[in-house]
Amino acid sequence: MPRRMIVGMTGVTGAVFGVELLRRLRQQPDVETHLVLSPWARSTVRRETGLSAHEVIDLADATYAWNDQGAPISSGSFRGDAMVIAPCGLKTLAGICTGCAEGLISRAADVTLKAGRRLVLVARDPLSESHLDNMLALTRMGARIVPPMPACYYRPETIGDPVSHVVVRVLDQLDIHVPSAQRWNGMSHSPAL
Ligand SMILES: Cc1cc2nc3c(=O)[nH]c(=O)nc-3n(C[C@H](O)[C@H](O)[C@H](O)COP(=O)(O)O)c2cc1C
Repeated sequence: MPRRMIVGMTGVTGAVFGVELLRRLRQQPDVETHLVLSPWARSTVRRETGLSAHEVIDLADATYAWNDQGAPISSGSFRGDAMVIAPCGLKTLAGICTGCAEGLISRAADVTLKAGRRLVLVARDPLSESHLDNMLALTRMGARIVPPMPACYYRPETIGDPVSHVVVRVLDQLDIHVPSAQRWNGMSHSPAL
């Protein structure tokens, strides 16, 4: 039985993270992806990646309309393993936090939490007190907040490098190991005191 990952993409900047995640998951022979794009995600995908929504949908094994509350992933009986929302807008994050599951992305996330499965939110933006409160509340509910914060210790050279770095951290949360990932291995020498 393949591992079933639900991927939601919302309409905030950072569509590249969702696209790179789908590409990486596609390389995993035992992973099946179920994708939902919010209406605004279709717009940010076009603007930020140059891809059409259809090209992104083609990266997934199954896809559902953003408002299809009757989709299989809308139900706790769907045998999913985990869900990632990348990028995750703060409106969607607030909806999940309060249980106000408007749209299929929030509903599937709500079900993922309810079922005690892994929920990973790649949330970015300047953060207000309410956003931080929501993130803390969701962390306490079991979600993993993984803001797309790239590391610099491996000296990224292209825009794709930090995107890959962040996506590898997301895959870590799903227990998917990427052998080629660059990881911190300690200093080769101690700094002079
Ligand atoms: C190009 C673009 C970039 C955006 N970036 C952000 C962002 O970084 N953070 C945010 O909260 N909203 C951002 N928005 C606004 C969201 O699209 C808006 O909040 C929308 O209601 C999100 O809906 P969704 O979460 O259902 O996709 C952006 C909109 C556009 C068109």
